[in-house]
Amino acid sequence: MTRIAIVGAGSVGTALGTGFARTGHDVAYAVRNPDDTKYATLPHRAPLADATRNADVVVLAVPADAVPGTIPMLSLAPGQVVIDATNAVRTAVPGGHATMGELVAALVPDGVAVAKAFNTVGAEHLGNGETPTGRVFLPIAGDDAAVDLVLQLATDLGFEAVSLGGRDRFEMLEAHAKLWIHLAFGRGWGRQFAFTVIRP
Ligand SMILES: NC(=O)c1ccc[n+]([C@@H]2O[C@H](COP(=O)([O-])OP(=O)(O)OC[C@H]3O[C@@H](n4cnc5c(N)ncnc54)[C@H](OP(=O)(O)O)[C@@H]3O)[C@@H](O)[C@H]2O)c1
Repeated sequence: MTRIAIVGAGSVGTALGTGFARTGHDVAYAVRNPDDTKYATLPHRAPLADATRNADVVVLAVPADAVPGTIPMLSLAPGQVVIDATNAVRTAVPGGHATMGELVAALVPDGVAVAKAFNTVGAEHLGNGETPTGRVFLPIAGDDAAVDLVLQLATDLGFEAVSLGGRDRFEMLEAHAKLWIHLAFGRGWGRQFAFTVIRP
């Protein structure tokens, strides 16, 4: 069992939190205002610092422009893993970084391992990667210690999870998300579509 703090309880955060709870993990939601009535049915919700303090894994599921203000409010320490699930969709990456993954890596304390994952799949499939037509393709990139753990978490969720490599592959993941967004909205494929893999 992994202690997972989900930062941001929107579409992505609640889908992943539901999935991680289903696969046996201890999930806490880190939210700006736990007393907000919209979170009344959310189990284990707490302020940002409290929910992340003892987590093994912290998942970032907030809008891109909220990332620079949110990370300093978390309780992050060496040994923890941060998963960046964000995309800069209708906005530039804050701070002049090339990718959201690099921004996140620049903001977390030394010794915190960073992986980018779950940003390439629509929220509708994030809680369960198994579909009647196959497992949803889920690329991951980042620091070795983080990627190994995320591969396991994602595989348990039912995804066809693949490591692309280190931090230099963040760009590939964010381009892949742009492809999904273009097909879903620009080409009218809709939010329910997902990539699967055929290989020998
Ligand atoms: N939607 C998708 O299918 C999808 C898929 C993959 C990746 N992503 C990426 O995942 C991230 C989250 O997307 P989402 O669709 O889950 O968004 P969302 O439904 O709008 O949820 C965002 C959450 O972030 C919280 N938040 C914290 N600080 C915030 C701030 N300063 N401003 C606004 N909200 C803040 C909000 O909660 P409070 O306002 O209550 O604090 C809200 O619960 C984004 O970076 C997005 O690009 C989205």
